[in-house]
Amino acid sequence: MNSQAVRAQQITEWTLCAGAWREYRANFVEPSRPITETMLRLADLRPGERVLDLACGVGNPALDAAARVGADGHVLGLDLVEAMVDGARAVAAEAGVRNVEFRTIPDERTLGVPDATFDAATCRAGLQYMPDRAGAMEAVLRALRPGGRFVAMTLGSAERCMPFQLTNGIVSRHVPLPAKAPDDDSGPVGLSSLKELVHLFGEAGFVDLRTEVFEAPIFEAADPASAWEFFARTAGPFIPLLESLPEPTRQAIHEDAVRTFGAAFPDGPVRPTGEVLVVCGRRPD
Ligand SMILES: C[S@@+](CC[C@H](N)C(=O)[O-])C[C@H]1O[C@@H](n2cnc3c(N)ncnc32)[C@H](O)[C@@H]1O
Repeated sequence: MNSQAVRAQQITEWTLCAGAWREYRANFVEPSRPITETMLRLADLRPGERVLDLACGVGNPALDAAARVGADGHVLGLDLVEAMVDGARAVAAEAGVRNVEFRTIPDERTLGVPDATFDAATCRAGLQYMPDRAGAMEAVLRALRPGGRFVAMTLGSAERCMPFQLTNGIVSRHVPLPAKAPDDDSGPVGLSSLKELVHLFGEAGFVDLRTEVFEAPIFEAADPASAWEFFARTAGPFIPLLESLPEPTRQAIHEDAVRTFGAAFPDGPVRPTGEVLVVCGRRPD
C-alpha cells in the first residue's frame, strides 16, 4: 500500500470519528493523564517556550503544553485531518486558551514551519499512523532549534493493550475484523516496539535519548454500555463496519460488549490499560 493511500485511509477514518473525539474527550484526556504528564515532564517545558504538537487530534497534549509555556509561550498543533483540527480549535476556544494555533498538514514530512524555530515538540499516539515515520522524525528535528527536545508516545505490545484486545475480541466473535493490506502496519499498535521507536530517534539524529515504559489507563467509561458506546463512536476503522451490519448482529455485538467489559471490570468503571512507550530525544547543539 503506498504512502498516499495510507494517508487517504487515515483521513477517511479519523474524519468519521473526529466529532466523537471532541464529544468524548473527557473519557480519555483525564483518565490517560499519566501518559501526558510523563511526556510533558520529559519535554521539560518552560514558560515562554514554543512547542510543536504533531498529530494533535483534538488538542492533546497541545492544550496542556499551552498551560505550561504560559501566555508568553506558544503551541502549534498540526494534524493531517481537517475535522480533528476544527475540533481542537473549538476545544481551545471553549477553554479560553489563546496561546495555541492549529493547522492541517498535507503529510507528516511537510510541517510548513521555518527551520529551528521550536524549543520542544510532542507527538502523542501519532507516529504509529504515519506511513513515513522517518520522514516525520527528520521534519520535527529540522523544526527544533539546536538543543530542542522531542517526546513521542506510542502504545506497546498488542497483547498488553486491553482496549485493543477486548474490542477486537468482541467484534471478531461476530464478524471478520476490517482487513488491512499486508504491507500497511499503520494503526493503534503499529509501532509497538521500543527498539524500533528508539531506532527512529537515533536515525533522525536525536541524542541523549531517554525512555519510559509503563502501564497506563487508555480510557474510562462509567459502565460497560458506555464503554462500548465510546468505542463504537471513536474507533474510526470500526464505524463503517458496525454501521453496515444488520440490526440483530449489532445488537448481539452490543450484548457481547456489555458482558465482556462487565466481566473485565466487575467492580466499577471500565478503565482498560495498555503498555505505553515514551521516548524523548534532543536535537544536538
Ligand atoms: C490516536 S489520535 C491521537 C490524537 C492526540 N495526539 C491524542 O493523543 O489524543 C491519532 C491522530 O493522528 C492523526 N494522524 C494520522 N495520520 C497522520 C499523519 N500522517 N500525519 C499527521 N497526523 C496524522 C490523526 O488524524 C489523529 O488525530
